[in-house]
Amino acid sequence: MNALHRLTAAHLDLIVDTSSTPTIRYFGAPLGEVDTTSVIRALERPLVPGGLDVEPPLAIVPEAGGGFFGRPGLLGHRPTGIDHAPQFTVAGVERSDNSLRVDCVDDVAALRLAITISLDEALIASVSVHNDGPTRYHLDALTVTLPLPDHVDQLLLFDGRWAREFATRRVDWGEGTHQIDNRRGRTSHEHPPLLFAGQRGFGEWRGDVWGAHLAWSGNHSIRAERLADGRRYVQLGELLQPGEVVLESGESYRTPDVIAVHGYGLTPASWGFHRTVRRRGPQRVTPRAVVANTWEAMYFDHDPDAVRALADAAAAVGVERFVLDDGWFGGRRGDTAGLGDWVVSEDVYPDGLAPLIDHVRGLGMEFGIWVEPEMVNTDSELYRAHPDWVLVDQRRAPVLGRNQLVLDITRDDAFAHVLGQLDALLVDHDIAYVKWDMNRPLVAPATSGAPGTRRHTLALYRLFDELRERHPNVEFESCAGGGGRIDLEILRRTERVWASDCIDPLERQAIQRGLSMLLPPEVVGAHIGAPRAHTTQRTSRTSFRTATALFGHLGVECDIGAQTPGEQARIAEAIALYRRFRPLIHAGDVVRFDTEDSVMAHGAYAADRGEALVSFAQLTRSQQQVPARWLLPGLPFDARYTIRRIDLPGEVLGMAFSQPAWWAAGEPLVLTGRQLALHGLQPPVLHPETAVLVHLDRVV
Ligand code: DGJ
Repeated sequence: MNALHRLTAAHLDLIVDTSSTPTIRYFGAPLGEVDTTSVIRALERPLVPGGLDVEPPLAIVPEAGGGFFGRPGLLGHRPTGIDHAPQFTVAGVERSDNSLRVDCVDDVAALRLAITISLDEALIASVSVHNDGPTRYHLDALTVTLPLPDHVDQLLLFDGRWAREFATRRVDWGEGTHQIDNRRGRTSHEHPPLLFAGQRGFGEWRGDVWGAHLAWSGNHSIRAERLADGRRYVQLGELLQPGEVVLESGESYRTPDVIAVHGYGLTPASWGFHRTVRRRGPQRVTPRAVVANTWEAMYFDHDPDAVRALADAAAAVGVERFVLDDGWFGGRRGDTAGLGDWVVSEDVYPDGLAPLIDHVRGLGMEFGIWVEPEMVNTDSELYRAHPDWVLVDQRRAPVLGRNQLVLDITRDDAFAHVLGQLDALLVDHDIAYVKWDMNRPLVAPATSGAPGTRRHTLALYRLFDELRERHPNVEFESCAGGGGRIDLEILRRTERVWASDCIDPLERQAIQRGLSMLLPPEVVGAHIGAPRAHTTQRTSRTSFRTATALFGHLGVECDIGAQTPGEQARIAEAIALYRRFRPLIHAGDVVRFDTEDSVMAHGAYAADRGEALVSFAQLTRSQQQVPARWLLPGLPFDARYTIRRIDLPGEVLGMAFSQPAWWAAGEPLVLTGRQLALHGLQPPVLHPETAVLVHLDRVV
């Protein structure tokens, strides 16, 4: 049996060695015509004194039993403690054009492994373990390990918190370990399951870069380790709490998918994630409808007349979907009560929601609604009837978060109850869109006497799947107090994510930049808020709010009717601009540019490179009096583009006696892709917190 298996795709190449426990020997840019054995021979490593007589492979599931001194891929044991260091042999390999399944057995430990890998726009890998033994197997961890080559010595890590998601942090990767553990029971604001690793100094368009993501919405653990022998790897998997997974005889556990990409530069590397999202998700082919959301317009202060007036104002500026946020149900007049009672509040909407929905539909908009199905307030009908339906150790006092508890949807009765209420809501009303929120992390979740994060996450997926099956035309959004549940597994069930509760454009430039390394713009909710941002109290120009929100799934989130007539006209202009460029931004390739620190520049190149829309945002004052040239690589060198400024609603420019000719003059400039990459474009002088848009149109 040939033990080297090569999978190739347009932008990627993969060689897996199955002569012993499966090991990735190469993952990266296409190698072209090669004899795969030459790759192995070229990279054969010498044995050196002071070590073992063999070098254990850096396998997809590395084995302590074989002498691997990093973190083993499988951690677990039988009740007596034995079988803690299994050693597998390959029992079978099945392959198709772009996928591989390798079955392995350890007869001594009575365990089996199945490793599945596919290669397309990204590498997608998962592992499952099966207990063939007569006793229980206590599983502590099962992860996917990806080796990285020796010239990778910097990491790009992601941090964050509420209202400041997807912050990036670059670190040198010397010997040792970077470990990121998420125990919040949701994907989390703090530790997005994503990292990039590359050659020192890698940029948006330079350097060998690999990225890896864990598609999972619960706890996770990500490790990047550089061993003393020079080898390095990233390892991703679910973080299991003690006792969380115990495999009875005959039972299995499968890891979430690990999705990995490669490119020369971060921008091309992230296309692998974007294309994977576009293929795996339920994303509609219809244009992403402009949203108006009631949250920052009225919070809990629902009054049917005011809601109708907001809908009127929204329709007048061109909104296409009206979303009724928190506050419409049960006793939900504030954030202390009502969660769990998914029935329309008779106090607020005595005639139900139908008149409002008819009104919204009559204005030509779709109707959307907010829910938070996994939660319950103690002040709710549901809690009064079923105080035991909460995901805690019932012997202890629970820790509240936003005054709420987590419902134990792993229980059949609680699951059926929530499903029934949501289903009735969707059956009884003309609802096109559901914003699904989750406003608190899990704390020591327990169910049936065991830790409950994994079971909660799986129950959540089941709830989504069941609702989607019953209501295939309804779109869903994943929100968790902003961007607390953003990953590629929830995106198989949702059409978009709410990136952040912070819609201040200055903060959003950074949040959306970080997020754009994982997600394409059409799944990222981005709203134009009031001139003064609620989360920061910073005031911003409409042009800056527009230029920022345009590169996402656009919405408006403010009391539109209360804005000045001038501001309402500018919002209408912003929406018209979005509609004009939505096909390009939502189907093109996201591009980001390396600039001085005071600037963020990014945009979208059409897939056929026939046009592009790029944005240059001056965040703070430029380090130099005249801002540095803007290099725009990645367009075909010989193609010629007409460069035109795109006017944004409201004023934009900065303090200067003149502006670059191409910007100021009516006469457009024509440049080749080569020129744009090599000498670039002189940006105008801009005030801080100002952005400009430029359209590039290919000359045929
Ligand atoms: C948090 C969300 O991120 C907000 O947009 C809003 O829906 C509130 N929850 C409602 O409680």
